[in-house]
Amino acid sequence: MKTDDESLIRAASAVRQNAYVPYSGYFVGAAVLDEAGRVHAGCNVENTAFPQGTCAEQNAIGAMVAAGGKRIVAIAVIGGTEEPITCMPCGACRQRICEFADRHTRILLVGENDTTTSYRIEELLPASFRLPD
Ligand code: THU
Repeated sequence: MKTDDESLIRAASAVRQNAYVPYSGYFVGAAVLDEAGRVHAGCNVENTAFPQGTCAEQNAIGAMVAAGGKRIVAIAVIGGTEEPITCMPCGACRQRICEFADRHTRILLVGENDTTTSYRIEELLPASFRLPD
């Protein structure tokens, strides 16, 4: 694994500690590496009005956009109730990643015992929706 990936995973793991998950108890952290080499982190934030909860990827991507980032070079996601188990991004977050991804974007999912699997957006969201040119 590249050193860059390791620090991205560390950032996702650190922000995961701040996840606000009183309803699910499922802690998720995400860290985005943008085209300028900057890292933007986000965790899931639940709400008593359940649909209003937000996902970790969503918040990390929002932080990237707010900071002026344009493209996702890599995104690390780590989730689970206690020890990490592979957290496959939800459908909505696949679409959110897709918006800022290209075919080189690496989606790093951390599983048990620090095993990490890297996916491309085409694998997670094939034949994705796009507006006509
Ligand atoms: N969650 C994420 O943050 N990202 C995902 O891709 C899947 C699900 C959150 C939403 C909710 O707070 C908790 O995990 C359980 O569904």
